[in-house]
Amino acid sequence: MGLALESLRELERPFLLQLSHMGFVTGLLDAVGAPEGLRHKLLDCVRDKKCHELRAAAEEAGLSKQGADALCRLTELAGESDQVLAQADGMALNSAMSDALAELSAIVSALKDALGAERVLLDLSQVGDMDYYNGLVFRGYLDGLPRAVLKGGRYDPLAAQFHSGARAIGFALYLDELDRLPEEPQEEERTFLNIALPKGRLGDKVYNLLASVSYGCPEDYTDSRKLVVENPEAGIRYFLVKPSDVAIYVEHGAADVGIVGKDILVESGADVYELLDTGLGKCDMCVAGPNDFGENPDRTLRVATKFVDIAKDHFASKGRDIDIIKLNGSIELAPLLGLSDVIVDIVETGTTLRENNLKVLERFLPISARFIANRASYQFKHAEVARLLEKLTEVTQA
Ligand code: PRP
Repeated sequence: MGLALESLRELERPFLLQLSHMGFVTGLLDAVGAPEGLRHKLLDCVRDKKCHELRAAAEEAGLSKQGADALCRLTELAGESDQVLAQADGMALNSAMSDALAELSAIVSALKDALGAERVLLDLSQVGDMDYYNGLVFRGYLDGLPRAVLKGGRYDPLAAQFHSGARAIGFALYLDELDRLPEEPQEEERTFLNIALPKGRLGDKVYNLLASVSYGCPEDYTDSRKLVVENPEAGIRYFLVKPSDVAIYVEHGAADVGIVGKDILVESGADVYELLDTGLGKCDMCVAGPNDFGENPDRTLRVATKFVDIAKDHFASKGRDIDIIKLNGSIELAPLLGLSDVIVDIVETGTTLRENNLKVLERFLPISARFIANRASYQFKHAEVARLLEKLTEVTQA
């Protein structure tokens, strides 16, 4: 840890260290009876803070409601270290969890002496790969960079493969991330939370909700072609972006948070936190085809879609061979003109399909707008992100 600290100090920029412990998380998975085969899936939801999906995964894993609640609470154990340690203490269900907390607590107090409390944060859901790390896990974030520049932890099982009983701890500094560091740190008079808002119907709905709880802007963005509008009093700045670009802005840290359809989020594969299902813009990702469609398993299926990766993953999971025809809109035309056999697209009311003599063959992914956050912004602007999340949760659940 000392060497990791020195490395970050050498960079002469404000930085944060974020710590977690595998023992706490695997201890919790044991305590709630998570089956081996579904642990990776549960842990992926925990790591992306996708509580809404975590509940469905927990149900699939046969967990009790209390078990699912405990895993969801884990996603909230983030922030100032004393506070998190106190909350986590009340959650420890076995000795593995208590031992992990005792170790974390000792490390945190040594680090706080060296760095000051505000630079040592805990986030107990940010654990590494279960097959690799087995104890302390840590990340270093540099102000101005959207992703962690330093990642490390304890990986005894790997070391033991080379020498029985060996123990190991290490870290990597990501030079490619450092290359993106701006020459001069950008000073802002105050901390603004930058929100990527999708232009169009969905963005308008979300904006109206936020405006109803004092997150609106004095100027009406629909009255002009302006792409940036702000409310300095609320510390909010909106970037009006193409819906398909929201996740990219957030992943790269150009915006701290954003609201994006699950379809676009999955298709982009963006590495972001998915903090809330707003329930807005509900529809389904479907396979659709002509009303008289008949499946011929001997032929490769021609699939027209905007959602290439989603379509490929879906048919791969069924072992069906397909050819993809990538289109950018009016997908429903493709089967009508014989360009494809079927389409993969979102269906909301079903009107477009009906009016073009097509029907849903399979619904396979429920879609709605998700509130997402950049991983570094979640650390550096934790209070601002948490406040907005709370407001959005309140208004969407009302
Ligand atoms: C989307 C989608 C379908 C339609 C589904 O199109 O691609 O065409 O909405 O909605 P419905 O079930 O209520 O009819 P969009 O309007 O985004 O235009 P696009 O053709 O450019 O994809």
